[in-house]
Amino acid sequence: MSSTPFRRCLAVVLAAGEGTRMKSARPKALHEVGGRSMLGHVLASLGAAGAQDVAVVVGPGREDVAQAARRAAAQAEIFIQSERLGTAHAVLAARSALARGCDDLLVLFADTPLVTPATLARLRTALAEGAALVALGFEPADPTGYGRLLVEDGQLVAIREQKDATEAERKVGLCNAGLMALSGQHALALLEAIGNANAQGEFYLTDAVETARKAGLSASFVIADRDEVIGVNDRVQLAAAEAIFQRRMREAAMRDGATLIAPETVFFCVDTKLGRDVLVEPNVVFGPGCVIEDGALIHAFSHLEGAHVRAGASVGPYARLRPGADLGEGAKVGNFVEIKGSIIGAGAKISHLSYIGDALVGPEVNIGAGTITCNYDGFNKFKTEIGAGAFIGSNSSLVAPVKIGAGAFVGSGSVVTRDVAPDALALARGAQVEKPGWAQRFRAVNAARPRKR
Ligand code: UD1
Ligand code: MG
Repeated sequence: MSSTPFRRCLAVVLAAGEGTRMKSARPKALHEVGGRSMLGHVLASLGAAGAQDVAVVVGPGREDVAQAARRAAAQAEIFIQSERLGTAHAVLAARSALARGCDDLLVLFADTPLVTPATLARLRTALAEGAALVALGFEPADPTGYGRLLVEDGQLVAIREQKDATEAERKVGLCNAGLMALSGQHALALLEAIGNANAQGEFYLTDAVETARKAGLSASFVIADRDEVIGVNDRVQLAAAEAIFQRRMREAAMRDGATLIAPETVFFCVDTKLGRDVLVEPNVVFGPGCVIEDGALIHAFSHLEGAHVRAGASVGPYARLRPGADLGEGAKVGNFVEIKGSIIGAGAKISHLSYIGDALVGPEVNIGAGTITCNYDGFNKFKTEIGAGAFIGSNSSLVAPVKIGAGAFVGSGSVVTRDVAPDALALARGAQVEKPGWAQRFRAVNAARPRKR
């Protein structure tokens, strides 16, 4: 992807700040888009853009953010910005990482989660072509609040924050996305030359443009799609980022050969994988960890997480697959069925109204409507095993731990508490009693009495 494979790249991700406008107990960087924290998105893009070294700047006491950073990028070095004095000051919190040297320095914001590796690669390419600084510009529908890129003769001469801009500068539509690439050779000197004589009394990263030009270095910019650089400061913007992310995922799934009948009603996680000729009906939600293999059919109103649906299997409508649900090839899970922590063999059918938890269901098993695996006694969970080709009559309770042998039958309505041998018939219910003419006598006796209502 990168046209600059031999250049060493350090990425500094700014994740300090609680994000007060989120009104949340959670720091802003850990709010999620597509089931992954915004910080996680940024770290994934950096990795894909070839950044070998990663520094993450967090606020004081933010061990949760530090841990999330290490989980997403094992090599991430954590730096603490003890006072929030501006974006340049935040980058300098990682001074020791900068001092070690690099060819390319990328500065990213944890609250700008949708930037793509391709855009980061374009910033790096511009550095490789000789710029000391490359800003990322975009043209928002409403530029209010953003820094403006001031360009003369194609050269970037300054970035002016909204609060410091003149009337004329505020009319500029080309805005600063925030992220920036700097030549590793000059970065530290440029950042250290930045002062805080501005409307907010902050050390602005954006002032690196002017310090570069004063040092006789060239500053340039590249332009990004506005959807890529959406910044998240509140939950309305979080939902806007989610919508953009979902659109990307839907389009990628369709381009890779899945059919989504009503794409705008299907919701993905960042790691959802759909094979070719998968058909997804309207109103389906994929939580984290779903793999749907070729030719599988996901009917309307199904909810899946941590589920593996193998080739040609079908799910729903109205099915719920929970973590550890593994459906074999051609298996069928029908309406109002919940599966958790269970391997369902190829061609098995669980068509209606069942709960199957912690079970091993063999191939070609048929599980009748309303069957429940009773896997939990209030303290522990137990396993149910159902051998190949067994037939479980409707409305049975299989009280785990229990094994049903291959080819066995369980009579409808049974409460099975002991193992069933292969090819046997198990009946565990009250025997049917019949009293001839009883109903007729009952009616006759009652018709003769006064009724109590
Ligand atoms: C910044 C840019 C502005 C750009 C806008 C795009 C500067 C000076 N301004 O403004 O030109 O149009 O982004 O959204 O860079 N942060 C820290 N420590 C700090 C300050 C900020 O870690 O001391 C982090 C924040 O958590 C955030 C990012 O840096 O992730 C940007 O800071 P923010 O205050 O949101 O900058 P903006 O005013 O949006
Ligand atoms: Mg911001």
